[in-house]
Amino acid sequence: MSNDDRKLIEEAKKAARNAYAPYSGYRVGAALKTADGNIYTGCNIENASYSLTVCAERNAVAQAVINGERDFQAIAVFVDSDLLFSPCGACRQVLSEFSPALRVIYANNNEIRTALLKDLLPESFQLR
Ligand code: THU
Repeated sequence: MSNDDRKLIEEAKKAARNAYAPYSGYRVGAALKTADGNIYTGCNIENASYSLTVCAERNAVAQAVINGERDFQAIAVFVDSDLLFSPCGACRQVLSEFSPALRVIYANNNEIRTALLKDLLPESFQLR
């Protein structure tokens, strides 16, 4: 694990502190690193109408795109739990829209794993 990866996990961990997760109790943070080396973060934001909940990863993508960035090299996802979360199916599809070759790092309080988005979501849906 490189120092860059460790820093990205730290950023995801920091973002998880702002999670709004009163229903599930799972505080999730994501840190998305662009091709230029900039980092955008997001946390999960839950809603009383449960299906309106937005995951940390998709909020990080929104932050990046709002700032004009669409080319990503890695994402770190951290959940403050003993469970380990890899990005959900919806987030895999949204990440794949911009960067199908993305590297994914996911971590909890005990463990860190890495994967490639193309292995997590083979044959992703693309219109282009
Ligand atoms: N969650 C994420 O933020 N990212 C994922 O990839 C999986 C799930 C959030 C959504 C919800 O607030 C909580 O974790 C439990 O599903």
